[in-house]
Amino acid sequence: MKALVTGAAGFIGGQLSHALWQSGWDVVGIDNFSYGNRDNLRFADTDLNDNVQTMDIRDYEAIARLFEAERFDIVYNIAGIAPLPDCQSNPTEAASVNILGLVNLLECSRRMGVEHLVQASTNAIYENETNFPSIESSYPPPTLIYPSTKYCAEQFCRSYAETYGMNITCLRFANVYGPHIDCLRKQPPFVGYMIRELYYDRVPDFHSDGNQRRDYIYIDDLIDLAMRVSKRKGFDAVNVSSNQNYSVKELYSMASELMGKSIPARYNPSQHYWEKYPSLYEGVYPIRLEILDHEVNKYSLCDNRHAMREYGWSPKVSMREGLKRVIESECEMLKKHDS
Ligand SMILES: NC(=O)c1ccc[n+]([C@@H]2O[C@H](COP(=O)([O-])OP(=O)(O)OC[C@H]3O[C@@H](n4cnc5c(N)ncnc54)[C@H](O)[C@@H]3O)[C@@H](O)[C@H]2O)c1
Repeated sequence: MKALVTGAAGFIGGQLSHALWQSGWDVVGIDNFSYGNRDNLRFADTDLNDNVQTMDIRDYEAIARLFEAERFDIVYNIAGIAPLPDCQSNPTEAASVNILGLVNLLECSRRMGVEHLVQASTNAIYENETNFPSIESSYPPPTLIYPSTKYCAEQFCRSYAETYGMNITCLRFANVYGPHIDCLRKQPPFVGYMIRELYYDRVPDFHSDGNQRRDYIYIDDLIDLAMRVSKRKGFDAVNVSSNQNYSVKELYSMASELMGKSIPARYNPSQHYWEKYPSLYEGVYPIRLEILDHEVNKYSLCDNRHAMREYGWSPKVSMREGLKRVIESECEMLKKHDS
């Protein structure tokens, strides 16, 4: 059985490729290396770099040739532009990768008879939800560019499933954490950023009062579900969440304790959240500060009962255990990076 993993050199794509390889799948990966790197493909028991080609999911001709040559059984579209301010400040790029890139994969999957396509979606599409925990079937549409691209991508998935009878699953990931999380990019995910600052004994910059709560999912639990959904017929959208949320303060306190550090964090006004992206604050129509405030203070909690009932899945890794594993791997990576 052969799987295509797009975004294979990224955090989630690399780990998923490894898990598929360990389960006996023939894995082909593609990545344009705009965010990913080859270290994400090196594991204790194998190096998957030879399985991964440099290719852009927006290059229809190249993708079509690959599908014809390889005859995939399943396609995992994990490639995407994930950092919210990157999408907000470059919406054309965000839409072309997160929407048009997916459409190329849907079309090639249709033509070549791929059995199942799994799309990396996000719980950020619930950004305007006010009822919690959020459920898959009903929610107000999102506002910001990143969730809007993922929302549109899901509509294309639904369209292909309904029009052609294809089997397509959109997995709406909560905040994902685990080894290989990227802590060096311009706007790293919260867990990666917090551990990096503690590692270097620096005062981290957080926003608002630190009481805002988000839900998380450990990478192994996500992969477990991603591998279970492949037998499902038709279209499905599934929350991938631990159904437990944590505040910034709670996570920072847990990480500080696990790393044996005691560095009080700095709490900045939420309006400064994307100040590394000054273009967003400029021009005739600068970003509305209440939108930033809403994003920073957003409460997220996704209902995971659909995943449990439909796929017999349940999250296994506690936040404390997961955080311990990320700290270990991130500190090792930063040590190597500095030497
Ligand atoms: N990490 C999270 O918390 C999270 C949460 C919800 C959804 N997601 C989604 O999951 C997916 C993976 O996230 P991640 O955290 O591993 O991000 P990542 O940035 O580590 O990985 C994305 C990969 O896609 C590649 N890529 C980008 N554009 C491409 C293109 N045009 N063609 C081919 N490859 C391209 C990048 O180089 C990178 O290796 C993304 O689609 C993201 O939106 C992630």
